[in-house]
Amino acid sequence: MIAIAFLATGCSKEPVEVYDPAHDYFSFANTEQFITRHLELDLTVDFDKEQLRGSAILHMERLDPLATEIILDSRGLDISGVSISLADSPMVPAEFQVGEEDPVLGSPVTIELPADLEIASSFMVRLEYATGPDASALQWLPPELTAGGKQPFMFTQSQAIHARSWVPLQDTPAVRITYKAVIHTPSNLLAVMSANNNPLTPRSGEYEFEMPQPIPSYLLALAVGNIFFAPLGEQTGVYTEPEVLDASAFEFANTQDMLDTAAEMFGPYQWGRYDLLVLPPSFPYGGMENPRLSFITPSLLAGDHSLVSVIAHELAHSWSGNLVTNRTWRDGWLNEGMTNYLESRLMEVLYGKERVDEENVLGYKELLLNFDRIIPERQALAPPFPSGDPDDFQGTIHYHKGQLLLQYLENGFGREIFDEFLASYFDDFAFQTITTERFLDYLDENLLKVHEGKISREQVEQWLYKPGLPDDAPKPHSESLDRAAALAIAWTQGEVQLDEIPVAEWSPQAAVHFINSLPASLSEEQLNELDSAYGFSDTRNAEIGRTWFIQVAERQHRPAYEKLEQHLNRYGRTRLVAPVYRALAENGSDLELAREMFTNARASYHPITIAKINTFLLPGTE
Ligand code: BES
Ligand code: ZN
Repeated sequence: MIAIAFLATGCSKEPVEVYDPAHDYFSFANTEQFITRHLELDLTVDFDKEQLRGSAILHMERLDPLATEIILDSRGLDISGVSISLADSPMVPAEFQVGEEDPVLGSPVTIELPADLEIASSFMVRLEYATGPDASALQWLPPELTAGGKQPFMFTQSQAIHARSWVPLQDTPAVRITYKAVIHTPSNLLAVMSANNNPLTPRSGEYEFEMPQPIPSYLLALAVGNIFFAPLGEQTGVYTEPEVLDASAFEFANTQDMLDTAAEMFGPYQWGRYDLLVLPPSFPYGGMENPRLSFITPSLLAGDHSLVSVIAHELAHSWSGNLVTNRTWRDGWLNEGMTNYLESRLMEVLYGKERVDEENVLGYKELLLNFDRIIPERQALAPPFPSGDPDDFQGTIHYHKGQLLLQYLENGFGREIFDEFLASYFDDFAFQTITTERFLDYLDENLLKVHEGKISREQVEQWLYKPGLPDDAPKPHSESLDRAAALAIAWTQGEVQLDEIPVAEWSPQAAVHFINSLPASLSEEQLNELDSAYGFSDTRNAEIGRTWFIQVAERQHRPAYEKLEQHLNRYGRTRLVAPVYRALAENGSDLELAREMFTNARASYHPITIAKINTFLLPGTE
């Protein structure tokens, strides 16, 4: 066990013994002294230079009357000037300094309050700046990497700590801001943001936005491209390139229904509209819960609504994450685990228990597999010390172990009581942040003690602070998946023929489980037989493809390598490609081949995806 940890921050290489869970070790900002309430952006989107350029005005308050130095986060920004003013007086230039760059955190920007403002309790700080060539939040896509192939596209991905690479600000979820923005683009392109997009906005090259609800910086988002809109419901719609607009509107047709159901279950939807933006394939995640406008991977366009649990997930973040926000990235399970739980509740109402059981079993299997790869200290939901890059967080722990804890609580207290607890949790902490420890106290006071004798604080602490799963953890179970697994075995034992197993009629989740249940020893002929019976190598379903090609790589099934490479070129979502590279790299003979395939495909990937794949392909980077 680590008794004393080194914080992985550039600002402190000292061993830290007392860890303050409310402090964000992933930000330089001195938020106890100054706090931002509102942001005004005026940015020009320059596709030629691959640069955002303009100004940010931070409306700040001084919390500590003696403080005279503001520290902001930045990464790779070229800041050309800083000025400060009281509410309606003219701006005066301020001294500032950009500190040494830390590889994970970027650089602190230290701004001196001019002497005559030292008594002010609120003021505006204006920074003129341009983004750097490797801004970690930005991806600039040439036309050939878009659906239409004619116009460029750019998008941001600010979570976890990338907002600082396109806006100088206090980049911590502990601070919430409202914002306004003016975005200048080429006049034939449309800009959209995590704000009040108006579906009827004419294309003009100048777009104005307003976000009246206060949000943490990781939810700041912008995308610009040849984007069009299709309505899905009264309050919902989808933005994307015209080439995939119909397919997107078809796939996500039930979004309004999802929204209405979610609001009925979890409390009022507090954000106005809920739209989707379907991005080009390089978008590194399944989805990103940017408020009012979830960013979505096009790999969900399976043609049969089978992957819409990702939409349910991003929508559910409108409560868990966007409304009640993890205080720091160490508390990420409160965002993701709670959201996975809400996602499953929503999916149960909309698609039935069988589908949810299937998805829960698949998540559980991923969790069990991952326990083998994760050191015990990192298996806790809230590890004792934050370290490393928050992008390398242990996703499966946050998502699936977090979800199981909430399921455990539901099982312990009954759905009705637990739902009441959740409703008051969202209400009491709306537009606030929460640490794991505060959650524990709140849970203790409002649930554990109120219904004493069911689940103890110590039992919950075991989930939060100990590795693995407690013995009494729920074990997801799905009859349809059990049947799929049994048939996989029965076929290998010659008890049934493939044409007697209607995999094509099953849910994709059952097909995934079928593939994963095949025993280690299958001959090349058997794998060929499977592929020709079910067409796994040609599937349109990204999750089936992912599962199949991981198996293909692990088993070194070379006849399918050409199709495997096509899979790696077709998709950019990290989840769909990185594990396939990993399986090749770890199968004992194909590391070089994996590197070659990566060399060919990497121009189409996002830097986050590239970094992940590199951990498998480059020695010593993990
Ligand atoms: N907020 C996450 C994506 C994220 C996590 C970005 C951590 C940066 C750092 C998003 O809501 C998410 O969880 N996406 C999942 C969806 C899935 C769990 C349904 C994804 O991308 O796979
Ligand atoms: Zn999420």
